[in-house]
Amino acid sequence: MDVQSNGLFISFEGPDAAGKSTQIRLLANYFNKLNYQNIVTRDPGGTAFGQKIRKILLAKETNVAPITELLLYAADRSQHVYELIKPSLDKGIIVICDRYIDSSVAYQGYGRQIPVSLINHLNNIATNKLIPDITFLLDIDTDISLRRRDSSNLDRLESESSEFHKRVRQGYLKTARLYPQRIHIINARKPISVMHHDIKHILREKFKTLFSKNEIIAHEEN
Ligand code: TYD
Repeated sequence: MDVQSNGLFISFEGPDAAGKSTQIRLLANYFNKLNYQNIVTRDPGGTAFGQKIRKILLAKETNVAPITELLLYAADRSQHVYELIKPSLDKGIIVICDRYIDSSVAYQGYGRQIPVSLINHLNNIATNKLIPDITFLLDIDTDISLRRRDSSNLDRLESESSEFHKRVRQGYLKTARLYPQRIHIINARKPISVMHHDIKHILREKFKTLFSKNEIIAHEEN
Protein backbone atom coordinates (compact mmCIF):
# COMPACT_ATOMS: atom_id res chain seq x y z
CA MET A 1 0.00 0.00 0.00
CA ASP A 2 1.23 3.49 -0.82
CA VAL A 3 1.23 6.28 1.70
CA GLN A 4 -0.36 9.64 0.97
CA SER A 5 2.78 11.71 1.42
CA ASN A 6 6.49 11.13 1.86
CA GLY A 7 6.14 10.37 5.54
CA LEU A 8 3.88 7.94 7.31
CA PHE A 9 1.02 9.11 9.51
CA ILE A 10 0.17 6.72 12.36
CA SER A 11 -2.48 7.43 14.98
CA PHE A 12 -3.24 5.58 18.21
CA GLU A 13 -6.73 5.52 19.65
CA GLY A 14 -8.51 3.97 22.59
CA PRO A 15 -9.75 4.76 26.08
CA ASP A 16 -7.54 6.22 28.79
CA ALA A 17 -5.43 3.50 30.44
CA ALA A 18 -5.45 1.20 27.40
CA GLY A 19 -1.65 1.52 27.21
CA LYS A 20 -1.36 3.92 24.25
CA SER A 21 1.61 5.86 25.64
CA THR A 22 3.63 2.68 26.25
CA GLN A 23 2.96 1.36 22.74
CA ILE A 24 3.77 4.73 21.21
CA ARG A 25 7.08 4.86 23.09
CA LEU A 26 8.01 1.33 22.00
CA LEU A 27 7.14 2.07 18.38
CA ALA A 28 9.16 5.31 18.35
CA ASN A 29 12.14 3.39 19.83
CA TYR A 30 11.77 0.81 17.09
CA PHE A 31 11.84 3.51 14.40
CA ASN A 32 14.85 5.11 16.09
CA LYS A 33 16.66 1.77 15.96
CA LEU A 34 15.95 1.61 12.23
CA ASN A 35 17.12 5.22 11.81
CA TYR A 36 13.67 6.22 10.56
CA GLN A 37 13.10 9.84 11.43
CA ASN A 38 9.94 10.15 13.52
CA ILE A 39 8.08 12.42 15.91
CA VAL A 40 5.62 11.62 18.66
CA THR A 41 2.84 14.11 19.21
CA ARG A 42 -0.59 14.25 20.79
CA ASP A 43 -4.09 15.50 20.25
CA PRO A 44 -5.00 17.75 22.04
CA GLY A 45 -1.83 19.67 22.86
CA GLY A 46 0.64 18.99 20.05
CA THR A 47 1.51 22.69 19.58
CA ALA A 48 2.14 25.60 21.95
CA PHE A 49 -1.30 26.98 21.06
CA GLY A 50 -2.84 23.53 21.48
CA GLN A 51 -1.30 23.19 24.95
CA LYS A 52 -3.43 26.11 26.07
CA ILE A 53 -6.56 24.55 24.56
CA ARG A 54 -5.70 21.23 26.22
CA LYS A 55 -5.54 22.90 29.63
CA ILE A 56 -8.98 24.41 29.15
CA LEU A 57 -10.45 21.15 27.89
CA LEU A 58 -9.15 18.93 30.66
CA ALA A 59 -9.52 21.32 33.63
CA LYS A 60 -11.96 19.68 36.01
CA GLU A 61 -13.80 22.78 37.05
CA THR A 62 -14.66 23.78 33.48
CA ASN A 63 -18.33 23.79 32.55
CA VAL A 64 -18.28 23.31 28.78
CA ALA A 65 -21.22 22.86 26.40
CA PRO A 66 -20.83 19.77 24.15
CA ILE A 67 -20.52 21.82 20.93
CA THR A 68 -17.99 24.16 22.56
CA GLU A 69 -15.96 21.12 23.53
CA LEU A 70 -16.17 19.74 19.99
CA LEU A 71 -15.04 23.05 18.49
CA LEU A 72 -12.10 23.31 20.86
CA TYR A 73 -10.84 19.85 19.95
CA ALA A 74 -11.27 20.80 16.29
CA ALA A 75 -9.39 24.10 16.79
CA ASP A 76 -6.52 22.27 18.45
CA ARG A 77 -6.44 19.70 15.63
CA SER A 78 -6.50 22.33 12.91
CA GLN A 79 -3.46 24.09 14.39
CA HIS A 80 -1.74 20.75 14.95
CA VAL A 81 -2.11 19.70 11.31
CA TYR A 82 -1.12 23.11 10.00
CA GLU A 83 1.88 23.67 12.23
CA LEU A 84 3.30 20.22 12.85
CA ILE A 85 1.72 17.14 11.26
CA LYS A 86 1.50 18.19 7.60
CA PRO A 87 4.91 19.91 7.45
CA SER A 88 6.54 16.86 9.10
CA LEU A 89 4.91 14.43 6.67
CA ASP A 90 5.98 16.62 3.76
CA LYS A 91 9.57 16.32 4.99
CA GLY A 92 9.26 12.53 4.97
CA ILE A 93 9.06 12.19 8.74
CA ILE A 94 6.98 9.47 10.38
CA VAL A 95 4.35 11.08 12.61
CA ILE A 96 3.00 9.06 15.55
CA CYS A 97 -0.03 10.82 16.99
CA ASP A 98 -1.64 9.98 20.33
CA ARG A 99 -5.34 10.42 19.40
CA TYR A 100 -6.72 12.18 16.31
CA ILE A 101 -10.02 12.39 14.36
CA ASP A 102 -11.47 9.13 15.71
CA SER A 103 -11.32 10.47 19.29
CA SER A 104 -13.77 13.21 18.37
CA VAL A 105 -16.07 10.67 16.72
CA ALA A 106 -15.91 8.37 19.76
CA TYR A 107 -16.01 10.95 22.60
CA GLN A 108 -18.03 13.84 21.16
CA GLY A 109 -20.03 11.74 18.69
CA TYR A 110 -20.89 8.60 20.65
CA GLY A 111 -20.01 9.83 24.17
CA ARG A 112 -21.74 13.23 24.00
CA GLN A 113 -24.17 12.06 21.31
CA ILE A 114 -23.51 14.85 18.83
CA PRO A 115 -24.39 13.63 15.29
CA VAL A 116 -21.40 11.82 13.79
CA SER A 117 -22.01 13.45 10.39
CA LEU A 118 -21.34 16.83 12.01
CA ILE A 119 -18.16 15.54 13.66
CA ASN A 120 -16.91 14.13 10.35
CA HIS A 121 -17.63 17.40 8.60
CA LEU A 122 -15.77 19.38 11.23
CA ASN A 123 -12.86 16.93 11.23
CA ASN A 124 -12.58 17.39 7.46
CA ILE A 125 -12.47 21.16 7.84
CA ALA A 126 -9.96 21.06 10.71
CA THR A 127 -7.58 18.63 9.02
CA ASN A 128 -8.07 19.59 5.39
CA LYS A 129 -8.98 15.90 5.01
CA LEU A 130 -5.65 14.62 6.26
CA ILE A 131 -6.41 11.07 7.39
CA PRO A 132 -3.86 8.76 9.05
CA ASP A 133 -2.28 6.11 6.85
CA ILE A 134 -2.96 3.68 9.65
CA THR A 135 -4.67 3.75 13.04
CA PHE A 136 -4.24 1.35 15.94
CA LEU A 137 -7.27 1.12 18.18
CA LEU A 138 -6.25 -0.28 21.56
CA ASP A 139 -9.46 -1.90 22.65
CA ILE A 140 -10.31 -3.02 26.15
CA ASP A 141 -13.41 -3.79 28.15
CA THR A 142 -14.65 -0.54 29.74
CA ASP A 143 -14.85 -1.96 33.27
CA ILE A 144 -11.20 -2.98 33.06
CA SER A 145 -10.00 0.34 31.64
CA LEU A 146 -11.91 2.25 34.33
CA ARG A 147 -10.36 0.08 37.06
CA ARG A 148 -6.85 0.58 35.65
CA ARG A 149 -6.94 4.38 36.01
CA ASP A 150 -5.62 6.42 38.92
CA SER A 151 -9.01 7.45 40.33
CA SER A 152 -7.50 10.16 42.57
CA ASN A 153 -6.38 12.20 39.57
CA LEU A 154 -9.07 12.12 36.87
CA ASP A 155 -9.44 14.93 34.30
CA ARG A 156 -12.78 16.29 33.09
CA LEU A 157 -13.34 13.65 30.42
CA GLU A 158 -12.08 10.80 32.57
CA SER A 159 -14.56 11.79 35.27
CA GLU A 160 -17.52 11.01 33.00
CA SER A 161 -19.88 8.14 33.89
CA SER A 162 -19.16 4.53 32.98
CA GLU A 163 -22.14 4.73 30.54
CA PHE A 164 -20.31 7.55 28.72
CA HIS A 165 -17.14 5.46 28.50
CA LYS A 166 -19.08 2.42 27.30
CA ARG A 167 -20.60 4.50 24.49
CA VAL A 168 -17.09 5.75 23.61
CA ARG A 169 -15.85 2.17 23.31
CA GLN A 170 -18.81 1.14 21.14
CA GLY A 171 -18.24 4.25 19.00
CA TYR A 172 -14.63 3.27 18.45
CA LEU A 173 -15.60 -0.28 17.49
CA LYS A 174 -18.27 0.95 15.07
CA THR A 175 -15.77 3.35 13.47
CA ALA A 176 -13.25 0.52 13.12
CA ARG A 177 -15.87 -1.58 11.35
CA LEU A 178 -16.53 1.30 8.96
CA TYR A 179 -12.85 1.74 8.06
CA PRO A 180 -11.33 -1.73 8.28
CA GLN A 181 -8.54 -0.84 5.84
CA ARG A 182 -7.25 1.93 8.07
CA ILE A 183 -8.19 1.02 11.64
CA HIS A 184 -6.63 -2.06 13.21
CA ILE A 185 -7.98 -3.28 16.52
CA ILE A 186 -5.34 -4.35 19.03
CA ASN A 187 -6.46 -6.32 22.06
CA ALA A 188 -5.21 -4.18 24.94
CA ARG A 189 -5.52 -7.04 27.45
CA LYS A 190 -2.57 -8.75 25.83
CA PRO A 191 0.92 -8.33 27.35
CA ILE A 192 2.76 -5.16 26.32
CA SER A 193 5.40 -7.03 24.27
CA VAL A 194 2.76 -9.02 22.36
CA MET A 195 0.86 -5.85 21.48
CA HIS A 196 4.08 -4.24 20.27
CA HIS A 197 4.88 -7.30 18.18
CA ASP A 198 1.37 -7.28 16.63
CA ILE A 199 1.67 -3.56 15.78
CA LYS A 200 5.05 -4.00 14.08
CA HIS A 201 3.76 -7.02 12.16
CA ILE A 202 0.75 -5.08 10.82
CA LEU A 203 2.98 -2.14 9.83
CA ARG A 204 5.43 -4.36 7.98
CA GLU A 205 2.68 -6.18 6.13
CA LYS A 206 0.89 -3.00 5.16
CA PHE A 207 3.81 -0.82 4.15
CA LYS A 208 6.11 -3.33 2.53
CA THR A 209 7.98 -0.74 0.48
CA LEU A 210 8.79 1.30 3.55
CA PHE A 211 9.73 -1.63 5.75
CA SER A 212 11.92 -3.73 3.55
CA LYS A 213 11.98 -7.16 5.17
CA ASN A 214 15.75 -7.60 4.95
CA GLU A 215 16.40 -4.36 6.73
CA ILE A 216 13.97 -5.22 9.53
CA ILE A 217 15.40 -8.70 10.02
CA ALA A 218 18.97 -7.35 10.05
CA HIS A 219 18.07 -4.89 12.77
CA GLU A 220 16.12 -7.33 14.86
CA GLU A 221 18.96 -9.81 14.88
CA ASN A 222 21.29 -7.20 16.36
P1 TYD B 1 -5.32 12.18 26.56
O1 TYD B 1 -4.20 12.94 25.96
O2 TYD B 1 -5.39 10.73 26.27
O3 TYD B 1 -5.32 12.42 28.13
P2 TYD B 1 -4.40 11.73 29.20
O4 TYD B 1 -3.25 12.66 29.43
O5 TYD B 1 -5.30 11.62 30.38
O6 TYD B 1 -3.97 10.40 28.66
O7 TYD B 1 -6.69 12.79 26.06
C1 TYD B 1 -7.31 13.78 26.69
C2 TYD B 1 -8.80 13.52 26.81
O8 TYD B 1 -9.49 14.17 25.74
C3 TYD B 1 -9.20 12.05 26.75
O9 TYD B 1 -10.06 11.79 27.85
C4 TYD B 1 -9.99 11.93 25.48
C5 TYD B 1 -10.47 13.32 25.19
N1 TYD B 1 -10.64 13.67 23.76
C6 TYD B 1 -11.90 13.97 23.27
O10 TYD B 1 -12.89 13.92 24.00
N2 TYD B 1 -12.03 14.33 21.96
C7 TYD B 1 -10.97 14.43 21.11
O11 TYD B 1 -11.14 14.78 19.93
C8 TYD B 1 -9.66 14.11 21.64
C9 TYD B 1 -8.46 14.21 20.76
C10 TYD B 1 -9.54 13.74 22.97
